[in-house]
Amino acid sequence: MLTERRSVREFTAAALPEGDLRAALEAAVWAPNHRRTEPWRFVFARGEAQRNLAACAGRLKQASHPRPESPEAASVGERARAEMENAAALLVVVQRVASDRFIAEEDYAACVLAADHALLALWARGIGGRWNTGGVTRDAEAHRILGIEAGERLVVLCPLGVPAQVPPRPAPQAAADRTTWLS
Ligand SMILES: Cc1cc2nc3c(=O)[nH]c(=O)nc-3n(C[C@H](O)[C@H](O)[C@H](O)COP(=O)(O)O)c2cc1C
Repeated sequence: MLTERRSVREFTAAALPEGDLRAALEAAVWAPNHRRTEPWRFVFARGEAQRNLAACAGRLKQASHPRPESPEAASVGERARAEMENAAALLVVVQRVASDRFIAEEDYAACVLAADHALLALWARGIGGRWNTGGVTRDAEAHRILGIEAGERLVVLCPLGVPAQVPPRPAPQAAADRTTWLS
């Protein structure tokens, strides 16, 4: 199962059972976290919030194009908007950022693990998703839509849905080639 999970971008129109979403987050909170700081919270965006975020992502994508006024830029922006709007829901993992830098770094790692737990738990239920750490995850308007507050960090935004297509992935280099056995 671990080797079968893929990042999914294309989804069917199927809605996601809320029980599956809740169950995935109950798995997420079992992620390792040093000192059991439980530094995470989660946001699901659907409906108007999802549409507003999708519009925001589309605008940012177009604006980041070398020629933002060009038809190509408009079509890249539109693709980004549609991809986010066509997901069944958006899952956002938010970190409460500790004032101590080392704790904040460990808490970020814990939030990443929580996101991975959630995505694997969803995958086991036939739901796909992918990481998005693009400009929209650092944008003030997106943070306003999601209710991200001062002292919080948006760790990842994951469009979710029933996969319409599961992309292939070239096999990674074998771990054996990257492993040193000391004795
Ligand atoms: C920290 C992190 C950030 C990522 N950000 C993005 C992203 O912004 N956009 C994207 O398409 N994929 C993103 N990904 C997903 C990777 O591109 C993907 O996992 C990789 O290509 C391997 O494909 P797979 O997930 O299908 O196995 C991110 C993954 C990680 C761990």
